[in-house]
Amino acid sequence: MYPRQQKRWHVYPTAEDFEIRVVRGILRMAWEAIAVRGTFCIVLAGGKTPEPIYRRLAAARAEAEWSKWQVYWGDEFCLPADDPGRNSAVARSVWLDDSPIPAAQVHPIPGELGHQRGAELYAEVVAGVEEFDLVLLGLGTDGHTAALFPGRDWGADPDSPDVLAVTDAPGASAERVSLSASRLSRSREVIFLATGFGKFSAVQRWRCGEPLPAAAITPACGVDICVTLEAFDFA
Ligand code: 6PG
Repeated sequence: MYPRQQKRWHVYPTAEDFEIRVVRGILRMAWEAIAVRGTFCIVLAGGKTPEPIYRRLAAARAEAEWSKWQVYWGDEFCLPADDPGRNSAVARSVWLDDSPIPAAQVHPIPGELGHQRGAELYAEVVAGVEEFDLVLLGLGTDGHTAALFPGRDWGADPDSPDVLAVTDAPGASAERVSLSASRLSRSREVIFLATGFGKFSAVQRWRCGEPLPAAAITPACGVDICVTLEAFDFA
């Protein structure tokens, strides 16, 4: 059994408020991490929710020491490297490909090599990071996060591998590579992002204490869950 998750909910009235506050938080964390440790290691989420956040980070050109950022992903589809459906493709197209972050500091998961090899190689990549500074995560309508799905092994035990080869993800792309819950929990800060009424039921279940995959992310600092009002409270 994994440790109890400490949750802090942040509810924003509009998507714009949500985006502005999340981006402000990320930039503040980056400044602090760089001031203290000289680098900022961020793990990006897949899915559609973070896309406007990445666009706003792209627009915030002068507001960060981009040369000190190291960028990782929490999960990836096993699709060709240039497939637009990949999580890395989304962040690259709206932000990273045209950003001042040096290309060598952007570390996509090599999903194109397949779940097994991709997981092995990414384990070597993340082995170089003792603790991430910030992990961004999404929330699926079934409570999944990264590629950790209900009814599967989420790698929540402390001795679990850092990276999981996923072969039975629901949906069209069954093969995925995902950081495990224990590895995602080794972060100084974790922010979940959930917007829209479609997430209301998963959010309710999480609030009620159901053991969803998202509840298995248990960093010592607790998790911050940023949501829009309609995802939180159906009035
Ligand atoms: C992915 C994810 C996944 C995602 C949720 C929410 O690769 O798809 O990392 O866990 O964050 O499914 O997706 P949306 O933001 O599109 O709702």
